[in-house]
Amino acid sequence: MCGIVGYVGHRPALDVVLQGLGRLEYRGYDSAGVAVVDGSGSLSVGRKAGPLANLAAELDGSGRDGFVGTTGMGHTRWATHGAPTDRNAHPHSDATGAVAVVHNGIIENFAQLRAELEASGVELTSETDTESAAHLIARQYAGDLAAAVRAVCRRLEGAFTLVVTHADEPGRIVAARRSSPLVVGVGDGEHFVASDVAAFIETTRDAVELGQDQVVTISADGYTVTDFHGDPVATRLFHVDWDLSAAEKGGHDYFMLKEIEEQPSAVRDTLRGHFVDGRIVLDEQRMDTQELRDVDKVFVVACGTAYHSGLVAKYAIEHWCRLPVEAELASEFRYRDPVLDRSTLVVAISQSGETADTLEAVRHAREQKARVLAICNTNGAQIPRESDAVLYTHAGPEIGVAATKTFVAQVVANYLVGLALAQARGTKYSDEIAREFAELEAMPDAVADVLGTVERVRALGRDIAGSKAVLFLGRHVGYPVALEGALKLKELAYMHAEGFAAGELKHGPIALLEEGLPVVVVMPSPKGRGVLHSKLLSNIQEIRARGARTIVVAEEGDDTVRPYASHLLEVPAVPTLLQPLVSTVPLQVLAAEIARARGFDVDRPRNLAKSVTVE
Ligand code: F6R
Repeated sequence: MCGIVGYVGHRPALDVVLQGLGRLEYRGYDSAGVAVVDGSGSLSVGRKAGPLANLAAELDGSGRDGFVGTTGMGHTRWATHGAPTDRNAHPHSDATGAVAVVHNGIIENFAQLRAELEASGVELTSETDTESAAHLIARQYAGDLAAAVRAVCRRLEGAFTLVVTHADEPGRIVAARRSSPLVVGVGDGEHFVASDVAAFIETTRDAVELGQDQVVTISADGYTVTDFHGDPVATRLFHVDWDLSAAEKGGHDYFMLKEIEEQPSAVRDTLRGHFVDGRIVLDEQRMDTQELRDVDKVFVVACGTAYHSGLVAKYAIEHWCRLPVEAELASEFRYRDPVLDRSTLVVAISQSGETADTLEAVRHAREQKARVLAICNTNGAQIPRESDAVLYTHAGPEIGVAATKTFVAQVVANYLVGLALAQARGTKYSDEIAREFAELEAMPDAVADVLGTVERVRALGRDIAGSKAVLFLGRHVGYPVALEGALKLKELAYMHAEGFAAGELKHGPIALLEEGLPVVVVMPSPKGRGVLHSKLLSNIQEIRARGARTIVVAEEGDDTVRPYASHLLEVPAVPTLLQPLVSTVPLQVLAAEIARARGFDVDRPRNLAKSVTVE
């Protein structure tokens, strides 16, 4: 939510910052802005509503006058306080124009700070919470920008990352972090700060993760990190394990299409290294086997697509471990007083590792003494940092706003957690675990097979793109797949789409059926849980009887369903619990194609941002 980047080095900062913002635009695209300071202390600011391209065009139109320094910063916004206008775009400055600030997050006590500034005669020119920080830093400044930033941060409440520059300190950028992410990029004679390593991956893969309530000062030659009181803190350098090609479209029109195709490797890479000497191993485990053995209840908490993966986890963990599992929206979890104690395991799933609702759920769980296991795609993000154990999904960077490859990677990670629990609790013999793992290892090929057949799905997408709504039905692990199919369609194609547990059809949703309405039915295997298969066949008859069109996702060779499917989308036969890994893929492709046929940008759906760092 909002992408920020700062640069100090030897190259023209404007180019470096614009390039970095281009790679962070998935975080927000309501407006964009830049600030550049030259060696003589002249600070230039440019801001524009709309996508980054609007700002770049405006800068090009003016010949980029004034933007000549090698110190700069930029912002791509997802609006919270104030509409996405030029005036509310970042950077924000004080009245003298000496300070420029970009911000990610929400300053919760902004109303009080604003009132205080106005009472002392400051005229605020935007509706943002950020502008107050710019004025406060300017007033606090007495020749040491880092000290001024630290002092102001001590007064701010909420989650925020600030990047600040001052005309009197060219060659230096100061950034502060509380909860919202910030990494430092360590180059040769140049340094960066950014919301995500993607902003500087072209220059360096060496980075430093900034911790909670820390302030960093970067210059061309180095960086120093302190806490909000100015005391130095130790930092950890890490090497990013993916490169520029992972952050580029690689010949595809959209990142999302590339990411859908990367799903076989997302599954393969997430499995890699987790079955060693016949045992399942997690990435980081600050809880011992006895603690895993003592778990008597599991909550899976997450938001959106990650939550749908968590619903799959419920089926797998209950089946393999004979443990009660509740999958819960993170935004609801901590407000309903869940019953947690030392023997409760909370599995927190988050691609970004920074989703505010999931992070707060983790904090709530830990306050209640529950143990937390994070599943995350972002190394060193806040949620894994605050958890007792971590399993990383190795899906690589996901730039398309809609989650695709990270969903399948999360599903795989959930299975690994289930197997790790089964191993610790002895509910599965080691040869059974080895067999389950071998079945998982076959999944990249199964997913690749589905990808080889999606042309039919695309044609279908174009065919139904004019529909006013699409319904999705599934049972057992097909139910979360139905929810995920509907979510993809809503967010990408802006169509009314709803996912239902198929058994609920007769309890209300059947009233929505009408002539020609597309209804996607996710069929279980006729073999695994045959009884569910026949129940869904009955649902299909009910749908057809009311004139709706049936789009059926079914196992290859399932001839019983063929006569009743207006459109049949076949997926390879795989074990029942693993079915979401194959049956979700056509639904991702369907949503993307419908969105494209309706003329929408599938990488940047309206009103959305990739990481939701505010509640
Ligand atoms: C949907 C989507 C969102 C995210 C949700 C959680 O395509 O991407 O629903 O799944 O915002 O995000 P993370 O996984 O980063 O916590």
